Amino acid sequence: MTGSPLPWWMSAVVYQIYPRSFADANGDGIGDLAGIRAHLDDLAWLGVDAIWISPFYPSPMVDFGYDVSDYCNVDPLFGTLEEFDALVAEAHALDLRIIIDWVPNHTSDRHPWFLDALTDRSNDHRNWYVWRDPRSDGLPPNNWVAAFDMSAPTWTFEEASGQWYLHLFESAQPDLNWDEPGVVDAMHDVLRFWLDRGVDGIRADVVHCIGKDPQLPDNPPELAAIPHSALNDVPVTHQRLRDIRNLLDSYPGDRVIVGEVYLLSTDAVATYYGNGDELHLSFNFPPLYAPWSEPHWRRCIDSTVHALAPRDAWPTWVLSNHDNPRHRSRYDAAALFRGEDPASVVRRSELRARCAAVMLLTLRGTPFLFQGEEMGLLDAVIPPDRVVDPGGRDGCRAPLPWDGTDHHGWIAPEGIEPWLPFPDESSTRNYASQRDDPDSVLHLYRRLIACRRRHPALSLGDFVLFDAPDGVLAYRRTVDDEVCAALINFTDTTVAIDHHFGIEASLGRAPATVAISSDGSGEGSPFDGRLLPDQAVVLTT
Ligand code: NOJ
Repeated sequence: MTGSPLPWWMSAVVYQIYPRSFADANGDGIGDLAGIRAHLDDLAWLGVDAIWISPFYPSPMVDFGYDVSDYCNVDPLFGTLEEFDALVAEAHALDLRIIIDWVPNHTSDRHPWFLDALTDRSNDHRNWYVWRDPRSDGLPPNNWVAAFDMSAPTWTFEEASGQWYLHLFESAQPDLNWDEPGVVDAMHDVLRFWLDRGVDGIRADVVHCIGKDPQLPDNPPELAAIPHSALNDVPVTHQRLRDIRNLLDSYPGDRVIVGEVYLLSTDAVATYYGNGDELHLSFNFPPLYAPWSEPHWRRCIDSTVHALAPRDAWPTWVLSNHDNPRHRSRYDAAALFRGEDPASVVRRSELRARCAAVMLLTLRGTPFLFQGEEMGLLDAVIPPDRVVDPGGRDGCRAPLPWDGTDHHGWIAPEGIEPWLPFPDESSTRNYASQRDDPDSVLHLYRRLIACRRRHPALSLGDFVLFDAPDGVLAYRRTVDDEVCAALINFTDTTVAIDHHFGIEASLGRAPATVAISSDGSGEGSPFDGRLLPDQAVVLTT
């Protein structure tokens, strides 16, 4: 590697915190900023470089914070601005960077701008949102369907003014009108507000939706059942992103913007990197939906490489987040659906998640971990009377079990239960028990992150897939004269990686050493050419 230093986010490991569920310092059953501050040491011990904190702004919480009613403050549930400043300072002292969520596509319907817009049609804020007159047949202005409730239109009729307003998500989340210069200025000011407070990056929520076709045309009939937010892809957004990128780049310290571009084609997502002048990073969702199967992963990797390489765009990898079932739960459900014997699913469940961790932390690109995956958590089972999310995403948002006591480290004065139940295995699978156990998933993540740091090839190196037996994914990472490889066995049998697969030739020299193995076996020893069932290894020379 030569030339100017690469930006920090290329080699970083980012840890997503969903603040309601991370840690509760004041005993109200909801996680808070003080809870995050109390565990910064644990995150530094794990070795991550940055934390992304999902929204903590004042909000009616219809969408648990993605419906913002004040962009420049902290919801009292989570703490205060002063506490946020302290969190930034404490994180920085530990070399942890802070990325915050920015929700530019919509506000809450309780945001003062929208309340103002409702007062009358001539109000200054009226045009900050998207309004349309009724059609003669009384139907909504177009056929777009909303996310979450896909039978619902993206439009709500507002009796008082006799017009419809647009909301790609809940009706409590009216879309901002980015054609209106006042909106652009206000949302740029929000970015400045937080960048001035020292945040290192922005995660931009559904940022591909800040531009819309001004005609708001119907979606073609064959796509009419797909939420419009997954289809919205128009040229004007790119200029808006270039302006946002300029704003970020005017700050020192490589502030990063990672966009949630929720379009399922990786080729389409790639365009939001522009020519290196739009998003620095964009989430790539197909891997998050990929079942645990070698051909699927090979396809995800191939399509990512092919879409991003021509633009020299840097990939991201994610297995789980706050919007989807956790990957261990997904892999288990898919295996049962395929008819795998339930006993085998139980036996293989954690092993598969361990293999996935090896991939996540050795593929070329920035990995994003979702809180709790470092313990191999499953989703919580949510009884019907405790369902709270309109999008059915409560399971992955269960509170983190910090220890094996009844309340798992969530203070419970007067018996206040956390806002959601804990995952089923919490009495045995929790932070304290895993921290004490060198064989735990937590320690595997820690060793993998440390290994990335020791071997820059694993974060910044070139990436080449090489031949391996069926059911095994094998790739090499190279930087300068350092070569590493990762081998992932998706099968439940022992696989011999004999010489004709050329691992050693591929690594350039022999013997290869097992730097990491997903089950901990053989680390530090020469690789004996065998991959155990559901095992992944990282080899170094
Ligand atoms: C994507 C966020 O990840 C999700 O949680 C939210 O509901 C929607 N955007 C709407 O803001």
